[in-house]
Amino acid sequence: MVIAIDGPAGAGKSSVARAVAGALGFTYLDSGAMYRCVALAAIERGIDLDGDAALGELARSLEIDLDGDCVRLDAREVSEAIREPRVTEASSRVSIHPPVREAMVAQQQRIIAAGRFVAEGRDIGTVVSPEAPLKVFLTASAPERARRRAAQTGEDEAAVLAAQLERDERDEGREHSALRSADDAVELDTTGLSLDEVVGRVVELAQERNLA
Ligand code: DC
Repeated sequence: MVIAIDGPAGAGKSSVARAVAGALGFTYLDSGAMYRCVALAAIERGIDLDGDAALGELARSLEIDLDGDCVRLDAREVSEAIREPRVTEASSRVSIHPPVREAMVAQQQRIIAAGRFVAEGRDIGTVVSPEAPLKVFLTASAPERARRRAAQTGEDEAAVLAAQLERDERDEGREHSALRSADDAVELDTTGLSLDEVVGRVVELAQERNLA
């Protein structure tokens, strides 16, 4: 069973999903980390980031292991390497390709079937788990999202905003599994809200639906 938390980059999905999982005793699943692993492997192996078939083959061959915040790619710890700006940019590019998405979605569905999860991403409520009993779509204004991301990573805020807008455009505009809110998702605009307020609201929703 899964609580789905989707939304654009910097909307606070990771912090919220992690905290909600902690509060409810569920396991946190970061689906974006999986696309980041594909991107890192493609960069390291010199695979064309726009090459559909080769990326699909790569995605199917990788062993990605998510253990809390520790991410392993073919048994090597890559938790920090996958957060580098060049990997961030590449992850948005590789995630456009249907064969990559099919491989990742299949893995995510296998993981989710084995327990109680709070999963964050772009397509959890629409594609990975359309039957999720609670779907939350988190948003925040673009400047606020850039401010939060810059504070987290120490990058320049204007540069983060520019890169984020480019990434949002690609995530929302792609042909397959584009970023969008599921029809039955609860939309939560987190602009001006504290993390505790957002987490409290999601936990409340889970309790109202007897999930916790
Ligand atoms: O959530 P994140 O920033 O770590 O995600 C990195 C990229 O992966 C994002 O630009 C789009 C892609 N992604 C996706 O297509 N589907 C998901 N469920 C999660 C992430």
